[in-house]
Amino acid sequence: MRLLLCWFSGTGNSFAVARELAGRIEDAALMPVAKALRDGIPPAERVGIVFPVHGWGMPVIVANLLREMTVNPDTYVFTVATYGMNQGGPHREARSILRKRGRRLSAGWSIQMPEVYTPWFNPPLKEKQQLLFDCARDKIQYVASVVHDKAAGPVEDTFLPFALAGLTIHRMAASEFRHEDRKFRTLDSCTSCGLCERICPVENIRMVDGRPQWQHRCEQCLACLHWCPVEALQFGRRSEKRRRYHHPDVRPEDLAIRRSPPPDADSRTDDRT
Ligand SMILES: Cc1cc2nc3c(=O)[nH]c(=O)nc-3n(C[C@H](O)[C@H](O)[C@H](O)COP(=O)(O)O)c2cc1C
Repeated sequence: MRLLLCWFSGTGNSFAVARELAGRIEDAALMPVAKALRDGIPPAERVGIVFPVHGWGMPVIVANLLREMTVNPDTYVFTVATYGMNQGGPHREARSILRKRGRRLSAGWSIQMPEVYTPWFNPPLKEKQQLLFDCARDKIQYVASVVHDKAAGPVEDTFLPFALAGLTIHRMAASEFRHEDRKFRTLDSCTSCGLCERICPVENIRMVDGRPQWQHRCEQCLACLHWCPVEALQFGRRSEKRRRYHHPDVRPEDLAIRRSPPPDADSRTDDRT
């Protein structure tokens, strides 16, 4: 296989980037990070990991994959982080994890996408979203050409002092992320459709008596909140006033790791359970 892209995504931004990148390179396959972590990754000439920036760093599950995945020393390994407002220092973190394992990070790109962290921000309106998608498309084209050539690329973290400060906060907070799901609550408008359970990328939600229950292994991606068709899920105090968002070209079936993709899904391999 020429390229394996492992993706982690809550609202679909990182998935959309991974899918577009895969579409630009022959013999590319997509694989959810949770599956890669569980089953291991197949051999590939290039391995890319695409994920959202969480708290100036990478999601915990992505760091775990980097710590555990087995790749040959000559594999071209790169990271692509999607972010909303500030890209933080996820690539530096990835490089340091790989270095400890005697492996090299060949490049780390950051791509700006709509911000989805509703406790602090409102996701942008459609017009601004479209501007971000247009810029992202150009950037993905450039990333694909560098990856195709297996060339050394940049490490696109934010300005060094901010990246280091962000990473310090990230490290202190990361161990608590999984328990933050205590802040979720369900409104009476919940229709028990179970989409939140199916869409959760780490299988952290169980429907009990028709209501979601969070199992305290949360990655805080907010997929459950943003994808709920009736906006019945809230996180903390501020989410009631915030818009919901998911990438307009991504469907729940693309992300739902518990279900096989539909037969008309992207013709490239998307190796799920
Ligand atoms: C818990 C959480 C923390 C986030 N932290 C940051 C951050 O530190 N900097 C940033 O620019 N965006 C941050 N974001 C925004 C996401 O990185 C961004 O919207 C991303 O594209 C979402 O991708 P996804 O749909 O693949 O999950 C955060 C989002 C979440 C849910």
